[in-house]
Amino acid sequence: MSTSVYLETHGCQMNVADTERALDRLRAAGYAITSSESEADVVLFNTCSIRERASQKVFNRIGELRRSRRATSPIIGVMGCVAQLEGSSIFDHAPYVDLVAGTRATDRLPQLIERVQSGEKPFDIGERGDLETWNVSSAVRHSPYVAFVPIIEGCNKFCSYCIVPYSRGREKSRVAKDVIADIASLRRDGFREVHLIGQNVNSYRPRSTDGLEGVSGATPFSQLLRAVALTGMERIKFTTSFPRDFHSDIVAAMEEHENLCNWIHLPVQSGNDRILRRMRRGYTAASYLKCVDAIKNSSRKLALTSDVIIGFPGETDAEFEDTMKLIERAEYDGLYIFNYSERPGTPSAALADDVTKEVKTQRFLALEKLQRETQRAIYDGYLGREVEVLVEGESTKTPEDLTGHSTCQKVVNFSGSKDLLGQIMKVRITKAKSNSMYGELASGV
Ligand code: SAH
Ligand code: SF4
Ligand code: F3S
Repeated sequence: MSTSVYLETHGCQMNVADTERALDRLRAAGYAITSSESEADVVLFNTCSIRERASQKVFNRIGELRRSRRATSPIIGVMGCVAQLEGSSIFDHAPYVDLVAGTRATDRLPQLIERVQSGEKPFDIGERGDLETWNVSSAVRHSPYVAFVPIIEGCNKFCSYCIVPYSRGREKSRVAKDVIADIASLRRDGFREVHLIGQNVNSYRPRSTDGLEGVSGATPFSQLLRAVALTGMERIKFTTSFPRDFHSDIVAAMEEHENLCNWIHLPVQSGNDRILRRMRRGYTAASYLKCVDAIKNSSRKLALTSDVIIGFPGETDAEFEDTMKLIERAEYDGLYIFNYSERPGTPSAALADDVTKEVKTQRFLALEKLQRETQRAIYDGYLGREVEVLVEGESTKTPEDLTGHSTCQKVVNFSGSKDLLGQIMKVRITKAKSNSMYGELASGV
């Protein structure tokens, strides 16, 4: 019988994409993929290190696994950002870990498992083999309808608080020809939506123009968007956009191509210039708001979402108020709010984490309330309107309902037959909450 592997994913979309790549390579090497943690011969955790709590999680999970699998002790492996950053020191913290595979060791997992089977405790935090050969079989994708397609890996921005440049290395863009080939093959396999992913998609800069010949665009990314739109994939989304590299030609491309979906995620982090400078974001509140205006003034109604960090070292009440003002002005369709978390080895870890937990919580709640009110108004605006929904599954809370996302990335639930899974349907909104909507089926698209 073949060795079975259970792989649990934490963290961002890039980790989901890496998990798919890992499953693909493991399957090709003869391993059986299982969704049963309690029976697997090998249990792998793909980890995230973005905040302290995220990076602790794997160690809690390993503890739980040890307790539940005492009798059968599986091989335990740590992959992803925690693995990359901590390398072999993970074996000291967590002696039950058998292998450590960094963010670029995915393709070598089969060999690493074999080395464990022959008595070693291997770790690999080396470079990726070949970025162009992302090619992952559709069978191991996280959804049969929505696929993540990495276009750029790593990050060169070095925001002062962020661990990603250390866990993911420098930016590396895939050649457009390969991205386009992936999307064409996903389309043949019945996928209806792709997300072009990367820490900063609009910093896309491939080493050759293969695949972009004859496609116009003010930046390589807006060129890529137009090239990808021409593949005929029905819905194309992209995350994350970096404000400093944002160009209005992205909006222009979205106006030209209906299949470039009407949603942009453009994290601001703070609305105060001194804090933005200390965060090393490379833009001011005013220059960020220029991007917001370019998006809001588009002839197409574009949804805009963002991320914010609360309580960066030294953030005063007045500086936080600037963030409140910016958030009010930007009228985001969605906002992820994070308490600042000190990450070892980043420049801001040298600054005192001096905003108390209580103050962070107060600021968090104030911002959350403001955003809830904004979102409520935006979501209410959809009442009576029709949106196009890709039907992705059953609603978790009410399994008799279906759930999916609109083109503008809102969660929409409605009642309908399971035969509609994977279809794009028009849904008329009848109820709006602050984070999701409910509607009734209008028609297919
Ligand atoms: N590349 C994207 C963000 C990737 S990380 C960008 O620059 O916008 C996702 C989010 O995690 C960030 O936008 C930020 O809001 C949050 N984050 C990153 N490091 C953090 C830290 N040390 N503490 C709290 N939040 C953090
Ligand atoms: Fe982190 Fe900044 Fe890079 Fe985003 S741009 S991943 S926040 S260093
Ligand atoms: Fe986390 Fe690594 Fe992604 S730190 S957010 S899994 S790049």
